[in-house]
Amino acid sequence: MCGIVGYIGHAKAGEILLKGMRRLEYRGYDSAGVAIKDDNNIVIEKKKGRIKEIEQDNIIAGNAGIGHTRWATHGKPSDENSHPFFDCDESIAIVHNGIIDNFVTLKESLEKEGHEFKSQTDSEVIAHLIESHYENDLLEAVKKTISQLRGSYAIVAIHKDEDYMVACRNQSPLVIGVGTDENMVASDVPAILDRTNEVIYLMDGDIAKISYKDIELWDETGANVTREPKIISWTVEDAEKGGYDHFMLKEIYEQPKAIHDSILGRLGEFKDVDFSKYNIDMIKIISCGTSYHAGLVGKYIIEEISGIPCMTALASEYRYSSPSDIYPFTILISQSGETADTLAAAKEARRRGCKTLAITNVLDSSITREVDEVVYTHAGPEIGVAATKTFTTQLIVLYLIAIQLGLKKEKLLVEEADELRNQLRRLPRKVEILLNNTDHIKEISKNILAKSEDIFFVGRNINYPVALEGALKLKEIAYIHAAGYPAGELKHGPFALLTKKTPVIGICVKDQTYEKMIGNIGEIAARESPIIGVAEEDMELQKLCDELVYIPDIQPLFSPVLVNVVMQLFAYYTAYQLNCSIDKPRNLAKSVTVE
Ligand code: AGP
Repeated sequence: MCGIVGYIGHAKAGEILLKGMRRLEYRGYDSAGVAIKDDNNIVIEKKKGRIKEIEQDNIIAGNAGIGHTRWATHGKPSDENSHPFFDCDESIAIVHNGIIDNFVTLKESLEKEGHEFKSQTDSEVIAHLIESHYENDLLEAVKKTISQLRGSYAIVAIHKDEDYMVACRNQSPLVIGVGTDENMVASDVPAILDRTNEVIYLMDGDIAKISYKDIELWDETGANVTREPKIISWTVEDAEKGGYDHFMLKEIYEQPKAIHDSILGRLGEFKDVDFSKYNIDMIKIISCGTSYHAGLVGKYIIEEISGIPCMTALASEYRYSSPSDIYPFTILISQSGETADTLAAAKEARRRGCKTLAITNVLDSSITREVDEVVYTHAGPEIGVAATKTFTTQLIVLYLIAIQLGLKKEKLLVEEADELRNQLRRLPRKVEILLNNTDHIKEISKNILAKSEDIFFVGRNINYPVALEGALKLKEIAYIHAAGYPAGELKHGPFALLTKKTPVIGICVKDQTYEKMIGNIGEIAARESPIIGVAEEDMELQKLCDELVYIPDIQPLFSPVLVNVVMQLFAYYTAYQLNCSIDKPRNLAKSVTVE
């Protein structure tokens, strides 16, 4: 899970690569490096740590090069393990994203042939393999190399005597930026947007020869292919902070627009998927992390609206589950569309004969090629490692899917579907109201949450997964231990941990569990834990809670969207108070492209 950038043209490659790499730091940031090629040699400058650690003075002038930001998988973060990597005589340099499963065997045989390795990484074998195959043709050497690799990769290679780069991918994303008298390659679009908005998405098995004026492509069968460039409407500003202190806060505030964009043109008939092609009596939703929590909320949404029974699974578990675990219709949720566990689950579901639908935020991402149907969330680029607006828009898409299925199953009358759509229409305004009233949330974060070491989040029914998500967000960016529970489960164990020092955030919406929830809040109050209620205005709760955050009135079925915004703000302002690295939390990366 690393960031790759390559450039070839007439401008100073070093500057362009570093700029592109900064836009990709969210993909990995434990080390960084560049390899720049001038007329007759390649010079590498690389360092453990953030991009700013790179010695700019050591970067030579040259009009071609490759750069990399790393998130360690094989080999600890260090200068030696940073990319790019040279072959033995420093003629070839490569950057790699992914994992080479058979690198140990390859390394052993290369070492027997006399190759000397300088790192503990799996990636370095690629440079030496290319060297072993090189006979004055880098493209052919790379082709021979990848035929020996098992695993996932996006690779870009340069040779000191060749005036082109070679790029190839298998299960790791790579795009080519098409410029005028210059071309780029990157693992993600923001890295190239400064210079071009025309991109070619490489497919698994593709290999590309990229010079400053030509781009030639071959697919996995070896056939010479043409792929039309797509125009990206995201501006560079879209990928920058837009005046907010952090991407995360910017993205939280973008939610009214993200919801609006995600329902746009979809509130009549939802035409993204023709569900009449499928016989859907049961659904399984598979995903990881925050997307898993969206899936858990989705279970309640789908069952309530369409009446179709729904199960959820973590992608990392499903993959190894019994082959008898077959749900004919399977929904995979992944904001990035690149999460290795979810991709593997998508393949496995297909292998088991299931029909598959992906919900993703990234156009043409890898998951879109592994499924029968794709529904996009239109959240725009999400840079903060903590998922915010993508979670919200995943819920929106799940409401839309559930309404369509409800109509198909005749569980919903047309007028009931219209009423649900009206609720969706009103959501952006309700989120806006919440976002305009954050003072109390900031105070609670500062005075209670930031001073605590353990925090509980409790909810019931459709808001139980929101409690899980609230706890995950706080752990992720504020580094405070937090646990989400269904409120009714506290008495079965966690009660033992409740003290004056363990605040409990209780989600209380007026659904069928409301009275039980009030009872649970009373039980927590008896243990003297500070209680922060998140609720619509209510006198009874005022007596029981130490603090209350109000959300606008909402039908319980749609309440997770509003309640979760409060959870995001708690996490953000607590992390802010503690001066945490909010957009790039330690040990985490935006898309987890290794299993
Ligand atoms: C969310 O805040 C996390 N960074 C993480 O749990 C994330 O949701 C998970 O890795 C899944 O990512 P995906 O949606 O891109 O598949």
